[in-house]
This record gives sequence, structure tokens and C-alpha cells, in this order.
Amino acid sequence: MWKDWLRPFVRPLPQWSPVAIAPPSRVVTATLHWDGQSADVTADHTVASLKPLTIATSLDAGQHPILEYRDNVTGKLLGVLRLARTASVTTEKTSLALYHVATGEHRCLVWPRRSWNAWLQNRSMLKHRSSNHLNMEPATAQQLMIAYLCPRPVVLVSVGAPGHQNMFPMDLIGPLERSGFFSLALRSTNVSEPTMREVRKLALSNIPSTMKATVYKLSEHHKQPLMDWNALPFPVRPSRKFGIPVVAAALRIQELTIVHSQVIGSHTFFLGRIISDENLAKGAQLHHTAGFHQAYRHRLDMPFTVV
Ligand SMILES: Cc1cc2nc3c(=O)[nH]c(=O)nc-3n(C[C@H](O)[C@H](O)[C@H](O)COP(=O)(O)O)c2cc1C
Repeated sequence: MWKDWLRPFVRPLPQWSPVAIAPPSRVVTATLHWDGQSADVTADHTVASLKPLTIATSLDAGQHPILEYRDNVTGKLLGVLRLARTASVTTEKTSLALYHVATGEHRCLVWPRRSWNAWLQNRSMLKHRSSNHLNMEPATAQQLMIAYLCPRPVVLVSVGAPGHQNMFPMDLIGPLERSGFFSLALRSTNVSEPTMREVRKLALSNIPSTMKATVYKLSEHHKQPLMDWNALPFPVRPSRKFGIPVVAAALRIQELTIVHSQVIGSHTFFLGRIISDENLAKGAQLHHTAGFHQAYRHRLDMPFTVV
């Protein structure tokens, strides 16, 4: 069809692709390089804030490290973020490093499609700026897409306290392996943020990819608390230690105690310790990756399953 041929020239790729990936498959490796040294940070770097775009890691990688994302099958360099050290977070006698993203570029599309697609995406972001909840500069959104080259799992976060209950989706989450912390970056305007800081406990439900539509619908609870656990459109059961309602069909349930929280720009950066971890079922979990990553995998005839 001539329309299929024409599409890349007139329509940008989607910024994000919701895809189904069965854990623990590792499709991309993230490596930090600094001062002649390098270290695998695939399970040791997370997004700490969107504005300014900030990466957290347990490693002290100097002042200006480079974060590289490589495809595990082909070894191809998919993207690079150049970082600049901003601060440290110290809690429980452990320090984490925070880095601002200075610049970034990806190699998922061949030139000139790479530049043309970025131009189309940036133009669309500027056009829809008022309705775009991220409201980021286009260059920063491009850098964030590079950070999603390591596909990010989507979880439903359960918060339960007297007088406040909630369940909402998050993907700016993940382990900081070397320190043993698990981090979450939550917009400070989220309705449950004060409760999370106060009660310091929550539960994460890792979601089967088949629940995508239901999970997206729950994003309204970033703004409004949940009135009644029974109002959820799926069965829940109590989490193992805290007894907070979690998704009965979850692939995995983790409970966290929050040991530290601080505001970094637009987001509150939470650090927790996992106090229970139940692997309940095998299967494809909902993840997000960058649209240009999925386009790269299509070109190699190994696309992720889109959900
Ligand atoms: C799948 C999914 C994952 C999300 N992950 C996060 C997250 O990690 N941190 C966060 O602050 N907000 C997260 N959000 C919330 C959105 O960024 C946004 O704040 C929310 O959908 C409200 O959007 P609105 O302000 O445009 O109405 C997520 C939303 C969805 C649907």
C-alpha cells in the first residue's frame, strides 16, 4: 500500500510503545563509562525526576559519565546519554549519585530518518504542549525516550492508610542493585504523595500485559484517591505483610518500606527496601519502551509484542 510507504515521511513514530515482555528477559544492557572505567548498570540506574531529567545510580561514576544502551542480541549501540553529576543522596549510610542528563542521541533509526522523525516528534510535542501532561522540552523528551531503551516494567502501586487508599500505575521505578534500594519517581502533585511520605509503606503489583487498558484507566488516580477498594475493576487480595490490597492476577507482588524521600524538581524521589517479594505467575508483563526502539526491532524482524 502506498500509504504504508508514505507514513514514515509524514507521521512521527509514537514516543512510547506499550509492549509485552516476559521477565526476567534482558534485551538491552546499560553500561556507565567514566575515567577509563565501566560498569553494568542495567539494574542499577533509574529516573529520579523528569524536570530536570535526572538519573540515579548506586555507582559514583565521576563528574561526567556516559550511559550507553546496547542490544543484547546484536551488540549494537542503541543510544547514549551524557550525564553531569549534580548531587548525592545519603540514607542508611549508603550514598547514591544523581546525574542530570546533559545531552543524548540514539542510533535506532538510520540517518536521515533519525533526524526527520525527531523533527516530526518535536513539532507534534510543541503543537500539543498544553495538553501534554509531561510538558517537557522536546529535547528532554527525546533524552527520556533514550532512557526507555531499557524497557521499563509497569506496576500498580497500592497505598493504604486510615482515611486514604489508592492504586495507580507507575513505570519510573526500579532497583538500584548495588545499594539494595528500590526507587520510585512520583510527580509531587500526586494525590497519594503525602500519604506515602507519612506511612512509608506500599505494595507493587507487576501487571500482565493483557491488563493494559485497565491499568491506563487507573492513571486518573494520580489525581483522585480511590474511594473504595471494591470499586476496582478486578479482584484484589491483601499483600503478605502489610495487608494492603494488591492485584489478585499480578505476576509478582513486592512490598516496600520507604526509607527516604526527597523532592527533586517536578518529582518526589522515594527510596525503599523490599521486605517481601512473591513471584506468583510466569507470563508477559506490561512494559514501556521508546517507539524508535520498537522500529529498530521491526527492521531486524524481532519486534516486541505490542499490546
Ligand atoms: C502506565 C503509566 C505509568 C505512569 N508512571 C508514572 C510514574 O512512574 N510517575 C509519575 O509521576 N506518574 C506516572 N504516570 C502518571 C502520568 O505521568 C500522569 O501524571 C497521569 O496520567 C495524569 O496525567 P494528566 O496530568 O495529564 O491528567 C503514569 C501513567 C501511566 C498511564
